Amino acid sequence: MKTIKVNTPSKSYNVISGSGAICELIPSLENSVGKCRLAVLTDDNVDSLFKDKLEGLFQAAGYSYIKYVIKNGEASKNPETLFAFLEFMASEGITRSDCVVAFGGGVVGDLAGFAASVYQRGIKLIQIPTTLLSMVDSSVGGKTAVDLKAGKNLAGSFWQPSAVICDTDFTKTLKKEVFRDGCAEVIKYGVILDDALFDKLGGGIENCLEYAVCRSIELKRDIVEGDERDTGMRAILNFGHTFGHAIEKLSNFSVSHGAAVAKGMVIAAKVARALGISDLTHEISGILLSYGFDLSCAYSAKEIASSAMSDKKKAQGKLSLILPEKIGKCVIYPIPADSLLSLLEAVKL
Ligand code: GLY
Repeated sequence: MKTIKVNTPSKSYNVISGSGAICELIPSLENSVGKCRLAVLTDDNVDSLFKDKLEGLFQAAGYSYIKYVIKNGEASKNPETLFAFLEFMASEGITRSDCVVAFGGGVVGDLAGFAASVYQRGIKLIQIPTTLLSMVDSSVGGKTAVDLKAGKNLAGSFWQPSAVICDTDFTKTLKKEVFRDGCAEVIKYGVILDDALFDKLGGGIENCLEYAVCRSIELKRDIVEGDERDTGMRAILNFGHTFGHAIEKLSNFSVSHGAAVAKGMVIAAKVARALGISDLTHEISGILLSYGFDLSCAYSAKEIASSAMSDKKKAQGKLSLILPEKIGKCVIYPIPADSLLSLLEAVKL
């Protein structure tokens, strides 16, 4: 088990990561938020698997809590669910000195974080991620959001948690595809920031899960500390995401986030090759194939370009591509948005 300290301009907090980290929940609550009422947001899957564990810990430590259970899945990440949870907290008399607890994957974490940031103009937040994806990405760094009809994550806030408890044992109950989704993000960190992590992952994540989670969080921490509000270097965390989001949208979200990011990373590697920046297509595809990702692309250059152009990251006619330079290093490569199509047409998708 390891404690990773995160110091952002707006807040400093600890992430406790490793097998059995949930045992550190109560000491961590006592240190970071003190004795207050807890408003737990979770989903029906997580609730049925782990409610006894969490509630047992709260009861033994004398924490009073209320709980709001949402239906699992991205469809819940909307303004209606957000406001229903806010109304629930208000009706239960949650005050400004109380604390929201996000217990679940990325959808729960993003919704709970957003709710904590706006309830009575902002209350404390504890993240307890239960999926690999939310452990290595969404629970750390303070991004919160709900989806709007026009697209994913279009309303949200930056709201750092007071503590994050990443117990890797929760990943044992994940479906294979859900676990693999998180692997795409871990492999991403290796490609953009850490060749040693990339090499280790080549031997299979099951042989280094605690290390991989911890290292991913440290790498994300280093980026977020330097660019909390995502105006510069934090963009590199979107490696594979511009094309990945385009594919997710084109598939009507039948391709999952991690599966789409895996395809997006390979497209980015091919673009880097077409631009003469690097030739890592073989290496990046190789590791992703060994994790069982399907790297085929069912969409044309034209479809991907127009879907990517509608992405919120396109600013003033420019698009920033994140391209690998070598394993462990990437570049932010701005291009005029209208040159994306010709670039993709030069690449065999
Ligand atoms: N998920 C990307 C970020 O936190 O910036």
